[in-house]
Amino acid sequence: MSFRVDAKGLPTHWYNIIGDLPFELPPDIQPPRSEEATQSGMKMQIPLSLVRQNTTRQRDIPIPDEVLDHYRAWRTTPLKRALHLEAHLGTTARIYFKYEGGNASGSHKLSTAIAQAHYYKAAGATRLTTGTGAGQWGTALAIGCRAFGMDCRVYMVGSSYRAKPYRRTIMQLYGANVLSSPSTQTHFGSRLAASGMDSGNIAFAVTEALEDAHANEGSQLSVGSGENYSILHSTVIGIEARQQLLELGHPPDIVVASLGAGSNFGGIAFPFLGERLRGERNVRCVSVEPQACPKLTRGVYRYDYTDGSGVTPLQKMYTLGHQFKPAGMHAGGLRYHACSKLISALYHHKQIDAVAYAQRDVFESAVLFSQLEGILPAPESAHAVHGAIQEAIRAREEGRSPTILFCLSGHGMFDLAAYAEYLDGSMENVEVSEEEIQRSRSLLPDIDESQAVAQELS
Ligand SMILES: Cc1ncc(COP(=O)(O)O)c(C=O)c1O
Repeated sequence: MSFRVDAKGLPTHWYNIIGDLPFELPPDIQPPRSEEATQSGMKMQIPLSLVRQNTTRQRDIPIPDEVLDHYRAWRTTPLKRALHLEAHLGTTARIYFKYEGGNASGSHKLSTAIAQAHYYKAAGATRLTTGTGAGQWGTALAIGCRAFGMDCRVYMVGSSYRAKPYRRTIMQLYGANVLSSPSTQTHFGSRLAASGMDSGNIAFAVTEALEDAHANEGSQLSVGSGENYSILHSTVIGIEARQQLLELGHPPDIVVASLGAGSNFGGIAFPFLGERLRGERNVRCVSVEPQACPKLTRGVYRYDYTDGSGVTPLQKMYTLGHQFKPAGMHAGGLRYHACSKLISALYHHKQIDAVAYAQRDVFESAVLFSQLEGILPAPESAHAVHGAIQEAIRAREEGRSPTILFCLSGHGMFDLAAYAEYLDGSMENVEVSEEEIQRSRSLLPDIDESQAVAQELS
């Protein structure tokens, strides 16, 4: 099967992997009425267009013209071969990377931000709220809102808000109103702040954004990753890369990407995984996560909340528990406690591989890459760089010559404080103890899975 692209290689359709799944996805469950939800009446709402994209089995979903018009400003994105890195490693592998850092937001997140802004606007929203960790998603949504004439409110995880002041500035530059989370603008944030919490996490920031959207007429919460539709919109990345590699005559054997909640990994990997699921080509897709937040490699496949309050529907995912408090590390976009139900199910069914690496090793590879190839990776993307290097070294040792493709999902020019720490030797390797994993697991909601089927049938 081939994907649909225009004369310049820009996809005209997104690829929906649900149409190729050889298994059913476990349905979501409505949460038991938590104190938070009961008090506020909060409920997650998304436009019908996105609800349909979450569940349809149609493989090719047309990209609306209004979205394509914006995509043309920066897509297609470059596919590059890391020739200097290959030579340095003495590898027999070819290493290609798809560079998503060249747009105004600096990361892959803009492809779903533009699409979501379009769909929310079409559904009548005048203002979008969101939570952001490292700030890439908040920046992308600020740009999306600006493109479609909407206001934007971003709750930025407190530790990033303080560590990355210029990320905040760039969001403001595109018109967003940015608050440090926990904030005093929401009941949820005020309670957290009163309990002494100031560093925050992404699940809490999303809860604040949800409460804010609920309290303000015309406002909706938009989330940057993890939902089927946000991965769907990101598949433009993999479709373009596949076309570019086909033209070079080098289809990939291995695809590597870092894993936050999933739109980065799914965005590049799903078009290739589709080929694997349909039995056309055997591509190995490798997800790379930090040892500090190892949801696939050390999490459990259970029903859990996607935010920190217990208001969002429960999804069956690999999770460390929604109460998991990841230790401070520099790849803020990978600090999410769980991962998309689609990627979780693919991992559960052994269709993808997962690895976890230590922070300093990841930064060592990122510095090497920037010195050899001239692009400084975002700390999140640095995980993919490190993963690709490990694959290339293994290929050399085993005398194989695979083509490796990885997603360089963003640039690291706002992350120089992290690189400074690496260079001056003060960067730590952050590990999660088994006790912390067990503690957080013990706080997972106790769900009878037959409830899910019953809810779906009713
Ligand atoms: C540059 C970059 N790469 C990768 C990720 C992980 O993305 P996702 O949550 O889409 O998996 C993020 C998340 O913020 C990011 O900013």
